[in-house]
Amino acid sequence: ELSSMNSLDACISAVSCRASCTFRWRRDTRLDGPWLLRGETSGRPPPNVVFVKTHKTGSSTLQNILFRLGERHNLTVAFPRYTYQFAYPQPFAAAFVEPLPPGAARYNLLLSHLRLAAGELRQVMPPDSLYLTILRDPVRTFQSVFAYYRSTVPAFRALANHPRPLAAFLQAPARYYDPADAGNGLARNPMAFDLGLEAGGEEGGSQWDRELEQLNQTFQLVLIAEHFDESLLLARELLGLRLEELAYVWLNARRGGGDEALAPGLARQIQAWNWLDVQLYRYFQAVLWRRVELYGYTRMKGELEALRLLLRETRETCLAGEAVGPEETADELRPWQPDTAAILGYNLRPGLPPAQHTSCYRLVLPELQYHARLYYRQYGREMCALPCD
Ligand SMILES: *[C@@H]1O[C@H](CO)[C@@H](O)[C@H](O)[C@H]1NC(C)=O
Ligand SMILES: *[C@@H]1O[C@H](CO)[C@@H](O)[C@H](O)[C@H]1NC(C)=O
Repeated sequence: ELSSMNSLDACISAVSCRASCTFRWRRDTRLDGPWLLRGETSGRPPPNVVFVKTHKTGSSTLQNILFRLGERHNLTVAFPRYTYQFAYPQPFAAAFVEPLPPGAARYNLLLSHLRLAAGELRQVMPPDSLYLTILRDPVRTFQSVFAYYRSTVPAFRALANHPRPLAAFLQAPARYYDPADAGNGLARNPMAFDLGLEAGGEEGGSQWDRELEQLNQTFQLVLIAEHFDESLLLARELLGLRLEELAYVWLNARRGGGDEALAPGLARQIQAWNWLDVQLYRYFQAVLWRRVELYGYTRMKGELEALRLLLRETRETCLAGEAVGPEETADELRPWQPDTAAILGYNLRPGLPPAQHTSCYRLVLPELQYHARLYYRQYGREMCALPCD
């Protein structure tokens, strides 16, 4: 059960917010008990994982897979002290993490939004942790960031009521964009910004090859949203998961986001503005294809077929239908809504038997709800969201 959505909304949006806002999760006993869709839980505990959750890249979908993994194995999650982000857009610091719960010796998972600072993460997470992140086509990412954060990122805010805001921004970005404003991190090269690079300047300089190599050393796997299933199978090998544990539905998608046509000129302008994201994406796309080659094309092809069959079956079992807008989703399953885009959610097929219901419920549970739920489970108290800065 969620309440105070509006004050949370205000809290997230405010640039400097001292308002108190609480995001409540009341215990839902319907979610106790067994909940695997099928089969046994995999035996040995999974490795420790840091997932750097980039913005508007499909990262909520992988986060949900990892939330479920953590819940299934009773893993200890490193949560932010306030809200569901590690004081974003500040660079991550060990001090942003909620202390360990009583009895826990270490954190196993760290999955919430942050701006990468690898040295600080290593102070918090065990040395053997796997580092994962996800990148998406920079044109798609920027379109999505622009739609989602149009009323919150300062560089976009002036255009909130413009009839063609994206085109207007790209025509004269310098007019709206102040690189010195920390709130503008997502306004240029958002993925590079999330990965800790100084991404606000003009194209050029020779240090980027080194920075990309450095990221390639930090991350055991960089998933690519356009090849999500292939990426997921590579992640499965690293994490030692069964195929069934990869079941997912796309979370946090924007209404109309899938079939948005862009004038070719606009796509080129987005690439030029987000030049570092373009380099980052190309680099890790090549790294991914090399990994698939080493994995074996034939093996990958066979596993992709099995995964896609599993996904079809899971969706048929669990969902009442396609993803729907906020007016049609049940309160407890409605994703957080920015005021400039409608974010889609799912309803469950009515009349599911209890074990299947609890399993399917987690599959479609939006980020904030799942986060609050796991926080409550780990600390026995509600997650608190004050102050935001
Ligand atoms: C997780 O904790 C629950 C309740 O404390 C317990 O019943 C279950 O066996 C634990 N599962 C694992 C995999 O440790
Ligand atoms: C990235 O790192 C892997 C090993 O971690 C290495 O095999 C690969 O060559 C690197 N890729 C590039 C482009 O440097």
